[in-house]
Amino acid sequence: MNVAGQHYRTIWLKANDPEVVQLIDQRALPHRFVIEEVGTVEQMAEAIRDMHVRGAGLIGAAAGYGMYLGMLAGMALTAAAERLRATRPTAVNLAWAIERQLARIASGGTVPEKVSLARETAEAIANEDAEHCRQIGIHGLQLLERLARGKSGRPVNVLTHCNAGWLAFVDYGSATAPIYAAHDRGVPVHVWVDETRPRNQGAKLTAWELGEHGVPHTVIADNTGGHLMQRGEVDLVLVGTDRTTYTGDVANKIGTYLKALAAKDNNVPFYVALPSSSFDWKMRDGLAEIPIEQRGPEEVKHADGWVAGEMVEVRLTPEKTPAANYGFDVTPRRLISGLITERGICQPNEKSICAMFPEHAP
Ligand code: MRU
Repeated sequence: MNVAGQHYRTIWLKANDPEVVQLIDQRALPHRFVIEEVGTVEQMAEAIRDMHVRGAGLIGAAAGYGMYLGMLAGMALTAAAERLRATRPTAVNLAWAIERQLARIASGGTVPEKVSLARETAEAIANEDAEHCRQIGIHGLQLLERLARGKSGRPVNVLTHCNAGWLAFVDYGSATAPIYAAHDRGVPVHVWVDETRPRNQGAKLTAWELGEHGVPHTVIADNTGGHLMQRGEVDLVLVGTDRTTYTGDVANKIGTYLKALAAKDNNVPFYVALPSSSFDWKMRDGLAEIPIEQRGPEEVKHADGWVAGEMVEVRLTPEKTPAANYGFDVTPRRLISGLITERGICQPNEKSICAMFPEHAP
């Protein structure tokens, strides 16, 4: 996507030194655009854990490149895999990319052959992620066009939570891909952007990327969505996911479930956009089985912002007040209108998901 008119992906191999991975350091956005260089598995693991890179698709791509860096350094592959796997538990793309690398590298004979397979696979994971998101855009566009037909030229109001934009993937994004596709084709769209406490991925990242692309949007405090839905000011809720069971339960950023409840109560369609790499083909019951990341309490107790040219962190709570920081929640399939995938839109149930991806049917 575009940054100041130039095309970027979120992660790539350095042009004149393919033993180095370059990535956009999202901790600095929207205030500064910083490109970071990563040359070891340890650095990649830190980049994932400390959220220089984040979002399901991008975490998967980063793990793919991390395995390539491990192979380059002659590291034991199981150790590289373990180190990367331990970074964040909820997004299934991470484990999926590591498994794919392990299987592919094992098919090589000599070390140079394995290095080359690891590089090819890392590039393939990133390219497929971008292409699948582009296709999600094409399928989701139909939904937005249909809603636009009932609006007599007024914008379709989409509410989104967190950042399932191009920053969360390699390019295009999942929830944002249909929005970009509609905007580029002249379908009027306006996006309500949940700020998404505690890390504010909506206020910082989604707002920044929509702004760079020229999509009209408004940031709202996290608790505003229900009120807007009651007033008829939301036509569609469109979110991403970090892990979706093959039965259609959706784990996404904390607060998504509450939006789904409000959408159900107000007859607002609630769609989830995902590439097939975010399906967990082994998990049946999302509530019981999906691991929910808990991060440090300081993310809840503090907030940061841009003051006079520098990032400043302030404490919101009394110093000794304890805080809990659950990163994700699970929205049960009964609250979901449909899943937008790279192959089309399916229903959130085993039959429909497995009919669309028969090669994964359990
Ligand atoms: O904690 P994050 O920022 O890595 O969480 C991921 C997300 O941004 C969301 O949950 C998103 O909606 C799904 S990832 C495409």
